[in-house]
Amino acid sequence: MKTKGIILAGGRGTRLYPMTGVFSKQLQPVYDKPMIYYPLSTLMLAGIRDVLIISTPQDTPNFEALLGDGGQWGINLEYAVQDRPGGIAEAFLYGRDFIGGDQVCLILGDNLFYGKLDYLRRALARNGDGATIFGYQVQHPERYGVVEFNRDGRVLGIEEKPLRPRSKFAVPGLYVYEPGVVQVAEEVKPSARGEREITDVNLEYLRRDKLQVERMGRGIAWLDTGTPDSLIEAGMFIHTVEKRQGYKIACLEEIAVGREYISREDYARIVAAMPNGTYRDYCARILQEIEQGL
Ligand code: G1P
Repeated sequence: MKTKGIILAGGRGTRLYPMTGVFSKQLQPVYDKPMIYYPLSTLMLAGIRDVLIISTPQDTPNFEALLGDGGQWGINLEYAVQDRPGGIAEAFLYGRDFIGGDQVCLILGDNLFYGKLDYLRRALARNGDGATIFGYQVQHPERYGVVEFNRDGRVLGIEEKPLRPRSKFAVPGLYVYEPGVVQVAEEVKPSARGEREITDVNLEYLRRDKLQVERMGRGIAWLDTGTPDSLIEAGMFIHTVEKRQGYKIACLEEIAVGREYISREDYARIVAAMPNGTYRDYCARILQEIEQGL
């Protein structure tokens, strides 16, 4: 079954004020790239080439100016405007026509994933059977949705930002659903803070016995970037790995040519048109390596 991607890049980014005074959170730099490059790279690496970006009325034109229609990376990008923050689950209402009859993978625009994507590939391979969310151990689960398992690994419940978390497993901002998620999201009642909560959507799948929770191992890095501290920590993480290996994380041009979403000729043309700087130098080096068969 085909999978479409949605990146939710809305919100006011108040916790990053005054950095978000003009530009949205998901346009802030994470070391050497705008934040949204990272979730977009995750979708591209998982083979998802149709992506809807949902953002605010003020920020959507900026995302369009930055990313365009995706043709330069051999993908198709569409945009939808969320008039006011109405919760993560609202993404499916804005995405109704875009999703159509396909499986959908939702990723939050401020979530960064690093490491082998086997967990996501397994989820996509379920081909529209219910919902798959992930569980990742963190030191401060109370900041997130938290999933509780019994001894056999069965899911007992999910709580949104519980004061007393029942486990260390937080739910990252990455979710895979069957096309019927649009109806489920529609039927979810707005919470006390007036939002359609993604946790309520997931609880409905749990009630139907159609919720899979894939545990992400400790070899995977899941970072978020909502506060000044977590933003710079994510930047330092990316910097450390890139500097050590000499390869960039979330270089969309490199991913596009590597996965043959674009030809080598297209890639060479795009690189030639880039302004001088380290990003262009890197992309040019990658072309040389490809040509030398490295
Ligand atoms: C949202 C979700 C939460 C999830 C988190 C991941 O929280 O409601 O369940 O764990 O994203 O980043 P928010 O970032 O909106 O506080």
